[in-house]
Amino acid sequence: MTILATLKISETNLDELATRSGAIAIFVTPEGKLDTAARKLNSLSKKVIMRLVESAQFEKVKTGDAISLTFPAGIAAAKVIVVKLGRRPSVYDARKAGASIAKVRGQEDVLILGGHIGRMEDVAIGVALRSYTFTPHKTGDKDALGKIEVMVAAPDDLKAVADVAMAVAQGVIFTRDLTNEPANILTTTEFSDRLVELESLGMKVEVLEEDALENLGMGSLLCVGLGSASPSKVVVMQWNGGGDESPFALVGKGVVFDTGGISLKSAGGMEDMTMDMGGAGVVAGVMKTLALRKAKTNVVGLVGLVENMPSDRATRPGDVVTSMKGDTIEVINTDAEGRLVLADVVWYAQERFKPTGLINLATLTGAVIVALGHENAGVFSNNDELTKDFMKAAAAEGEGAWRMPMSAAYDAALKSRIADMKNVGGRDAGAIIAAQFIKRFIKDDMPWIHLDIAGVASVKSETALAPVGATGWGVMALNRLITNCYEK
Ligand code: BES
Ligand code: MN
Ligand code: ZN
Repeated sequence: MTILATLKISETNLDELATRSGAIAIFVTPEGKLDTAARKLNSLSKKVIMRLVESAQFEKVKTGDAISLTFPAGIAAAKVIVVKLGRRPSVYDARKAGASIAKVRGQEDVLILGGHIGRMEDVAIGVALRSYTFTPHKTGDKDALGKIEVMVAAPDDLKAVADVAMAVAQGVIFTRDLTNEPANILTTTEFSDRLVELESLGMKVEVLEEDALENLGMGSLLCVGLGSASPSKVVVMQWNGGGDESPFALVGKGVVFDTGGISLKSAGGMEDMTMDMGGAGVVAGVMKTLALRKAKTNVVGLVGLVENMPSDRATRPGDVVTSMKGDTIEVINTDAEGRLVLADVVWYAQERFKPTGLINLATLTGAVIVALGHENAGVFSNNDELTKDFMKAAAAEGEGAWRMPMSAAYDAALKSRIADMKNVGGRDAGAIIAAQFIKRFIKDDMPWIHLDIAGVASVKSETALAPVGATGWGVMALNRLITNCYEK
């Protein structure tokens, strides 16, 4: 597990600047203004900071970007990181500034001189998220990341919001760790074990094993894991911080590895299917954040954990299975397995918890990547108001999301000759048809969003706040949605 460095918050103390080791980050406004601490550092270091600030090079630096000065004279610090940032930055710019600091600080301790600049909690989120690397399987140099300290004029104000900010960062990092983990390590059992550990934060966690799933009639979910040695499971996480009101429900696709099954995928890039549990990873991350910040709300998180493997016991193309809802499904393509998992888990979530709304997340289709690339998740919904609230939350967090159409016209593609439906349509509109499939398992009046995160859960080039690999996309947006709309 990646441990987040603790964030220390202290009152600005000019006497410490000369002797601090590691890196020191300062902020310069676009107009070239330095605060008291930065000015002190400038005079200690023979005005090297002002030389940079007055240079043509600094003029070209964008808001939130940084330049680092190495081994400046006159101070003990090995680096001064000069960040361009206004006094009242947007959430996005503040986090970008934090990410810029993270990129140049290396493993070193970093002291951030926040002075009177706002949103230092978001700068801290940026540092924490962009400092992340996934190292459990590297045997070589594994130095722990250095400490983060922020010095500000009013430390108590910052302390009040920093705990929530770090709860968010820890949720994102939990998601990334799960999503980056290879499938021989993160089996269905290892995944559920890691979720059970959330009990130490006051969460109620139940693991439903195969016999329980059989008794519930989850023939759709269970058919996916038949070919695997790892047992299928559903894990139910309940955060009850809101009294006896009905919960909001989050549901995640947790395919720990997707070979395609008998409809085997081609070899190229198949290793990426280790992240096919990314939806479940996001649900786990949000639940962790809610527990860490002791959210005053009820949220239930459910994940369907299975492995999609070919074997003599695996589901065959043409097999017909019966879902918990009772509808029968002809499995035309065993590689369209995510929807089979979600069908039963969303139905169970609605039957058992009567939630006020339900959002499911899944790395569901390659088609959504064709449509939206890696910038936006696909948003599919039966409810304009919930969608509006979610889109607002996602935009505020800088997590790309784009609403896609749904309509009954697409349902014709799912007609089966011998069962109530088949699990794939044609090649066209693949992401929409997958959403139409899930919608059949959503009750008519249930506010619902399906997020297809195949393009955003894990990326091949770095994003603003994440290195290559798992991003944790969605944890921040969902946490904000819950804060804004479902919390007292
Ligand atoms: N897990 C994949 C979708 C996926 C593809 C996620 C690429 C991330 C990157 C999903 O289970 C799948 O195989 N979908 C098929 C559906 C098809 C058989 C209808 C696909 O998208 O090709
Ligand atoms: Mn698949
Ligand atoms: Zn899959």
